[in-house]
Amino acid sequence: MAEYISKSEAETEEIAKRLAAFLRPGDLLALYGEMGAGKTAFVRGLVSQLAPECVRLVHSPTFAIVNEYAGEKVTVYHFDFYRLRDEDDLCSVDFYGYLDRGGIIVTEWSEMFESALPPSGKSVRIEKTGEEERLIHADFGD
Ligand SMILES: Nc1ncnc2c1ncn2[C@@H]1O[C@H](COP(=O)(O)OP(=O)(O)O)[C@@H](O)[C@H]1O
Ligand SMILES: [Mg+2]
Repeated sequence: MAEYISKSEAETEEIAKRLAAFLRPGDLLALYGEMGAGKTAFVRGLVSQLAPECVRLVHSPTFAIVNEYAGEKVTVYHFDFYRLRDEDDLCSVDFYGYLDRGGIIVTEWSEMFESALPPSGKSVRIEKTGEEERLIHADFGD
């Protein structure tokens, strides 16, 4: 477990960019944090490292449920569970199918499906501690 203090959106992206080094194809990273915490900003930082050619596409996939950033090195699947209701919806969007694709999966609103997510052991919790200050708890399992 590591903790970081971010004082701007750009700093959150930079922290995510560094943490991207700990992700491997097949991993799932569960993100936690309230609306406006900076989850999508964090994903932008990850993608700037993992699939830089796709970083301009990163936005909240609230309507699509999942965005796909198919970089040269790896594909990042970016889920936002906010608009899903129950585990049946996870099946409808083929969430479990994505787990077998060998990419890196990142999920926003992971708390909605705590028990349905595979025990990946990798998670990031972003806490709003001020207007622009965030406390970022990163747990990568070791
Ligand atoms: N330190 C910070 N880290 C991330 N976002 C920040 C920070 N300070 C302010 N913000 C603002 O908070 C908002 C975060 O939005 P977003 O990344 O979409 O959050 P979420 O996906 O958690 O709802 C943006 O408007 C961003 O500019
Ligand atoms: Mg978001």
